Amino acid sequence: MKIACIGAGYVGGPTMAMIAHKCEGVEVTVLDINEERIAAWNSDKLPIYEPGLEEVVSAARGKTLFFSTECEKHVAEADIVFISVNTPTKTRGVGAGYAADMTYWESAARMIARVSHSPKIIVEKSTVPVKTAQAVERVLSNNVLNPGARFDILSNPEFLAEGTAIKDLEKPDRVIIGGRQTPSGLKAIDTLKKVYAQWIPEDQILTSNLWSSELAKLAANAFLAQRISSINAVSALCEKTGADVSEISKCIGADSRIGPKFLNASVGFGGSCFQKDILNMVYICRGLGLEEVANYWESVITINNYQKRRFVDVVISSLFNTVRAKRIAILGFAFKKDTGDTRETPAIDVCNGLLEEGAKLAVYDPQVTEERMKMDLSMDKFEWDHPYSERKAKEVSDLIECSESVYKACEGAHALCVLTEWDEFKELDLRRIYDSMVKPAFIFDGRNVIDGKAAKEIGFVFFGVGKPLDPFLTDPASPNSP
Ligand code: UDX
Ligand code: UDX
Ligand code: ADP
Repeated sequence: MKIACIGAGYVGGPTMAMIAHKCEGVEVTVLDINEERIAAWNSDKLPIYEPGLEEVVSAARGKTLFFSTECEKHVAEADIVFISVNTPTKTRGVGAGYAADMTYWESAARMIARVSHSPKIIVEKSTVPVKTAQAVERVLSNNVLNPGARFDILSNPEFLAEGTAIKDLEKPDRVIIGGRQTPSGLKAIDTLKKVYAQWIPEDQILTSNLWSSELAKLAANAFLAQRISSINAVSALCEKTGADVSEISKCIGADSRIGPKFLNASVGFGGSCFQKDILNMVYICRGLGLEEVANYWESVITINNYQKRRFVDVVISSLFNTVRAKRIAILGFAFKKDTGDTRETPAIDVCNGLLEEGAKLAVYDPQVTEERMKMDLSMDKFEWDHPYSERKAKEVSDLIECSESVYKACEGAHALCVLTEWDEFKELDLRRIYDSMVKPAFIFDGRNVIDGKAAKEIGFVFFGVGKPLDPFLTDPASPNSP
């Protein structure tokens, strides 16, 4: 069986590598129009950082797994075609800021129609708005050139999280396959189910109609993001009341109806999916006249933006209401640990908030390149698909230093801000850092990874998200403040 996947990104690359690694009798080719990306997949330095990915790719590459830019050829030969292209939030036109941009999707669908000579199963893998399958069916059926071509569309959304992609693919909680409830649709579902059943227990492979599968993905991400906004809303309340958010998470997580995972208060959630999928859901709801439902989900984003803003405000007010020309160390730039991905990372908004006030930032992240950081901070919010503004790039370059270690970043800094929960931040030599900083030295921990008690004993003024406020921080304007 020949499998092709259009789009060699964070989803397509690892997912196809796992299928090729686990399945007998398949040949998997991952395709992309981006030549540089394909060259990287074929090299020793893969284009994305993901623990365990290198091992899986090198075990299968050249045997059952191939990476190529010859999209048309491999799609023409394939029995199953996964579509895993990017669907960013639209930055202009109708639905800008909410709707998914389906340009890449449509062009992939038109290409499939053009080159196909045989029946194929087309699988939606990227997150897409509900009813995309219908649009794809229409594009395909209206553009078939060869009578031998026929298509069954399936929805098979990916639930992997970055940083744990290989683990998630190897042992997923569940796989969902949605398709038309017709004889040929059901047969297509069964064919794809057999692929996954080679390593996943059958009772974890759920099947449904197309629309349930598409909506399940949006709903799952909306629920997960909602949990974070809920605990972050509680964190704001904790800081004002003297309660400790970690104690609250522990307590509410012990309720089996709630469960202990995904209850870490933070500086805000990031990543390519949560915000995009919620905005997408909001857009769909508004389009269907479900204003109250749209407002409900939109509030998850409102709280997330509030949390990031709140963090910036605490830093500025604590540093005597001015950060101008002050060096501030930023520990972590990726949107979570164990990834180099910076899409929608809260670090962008926090850094921009501090840069606007004239701070000088020294950023350290073990996986994010200097070029990536500078590009992210130079771009306007709704321009991430376009070249960034040169003026802003110059300003950013002057105000940002990318440091090779935490200790270098903190040298001469007034404050350090933890924005990603990298494991190495849990074991810092706080004494050494304290000695190298301007006094009073501040820690603002946006991920609750630093031992606040130990930090305070050394002499730091310490702020942790959702932790009882350090007396020095309660009223920065009072005469008792540091
Ligand atoms: C998410 C979903 O988890 C995954 O199932 C889906 O396929 C894609 O979107 P991902 O964005 O890669 O995965 O990472 P995730 O672990 O969900 O984290 C998202 C953001 O939430 C990160 O910024 C993370 O730091 C933050 N987060 C997560 C918290 O702030 N607190 C938590 O308790 C958990
Ligand atoms: C609730 C809490 O569960 C309990 O821990 C707390 O101590 C008191 O409040 P209670 O109000 O007695 O308990 O019942 P619960 O089972 O939580 O149901 C509350 C409402 O939610 C009911 O009207 C129930 O029908 C509804 N519900 C519950 C749903 O509509 N859907 C569900 O999936 C669960
Ligand atoms: P995701 O996180 O959803 O995997 P990425 O942006 O990492 O998203 O990957 C999507 C990939 O799809 C990109 O590498 C992009 O070049 C590729 N792509 C987009 N449109 C097409 C297309 N028509 N044909 C082939 N590849 C495409």
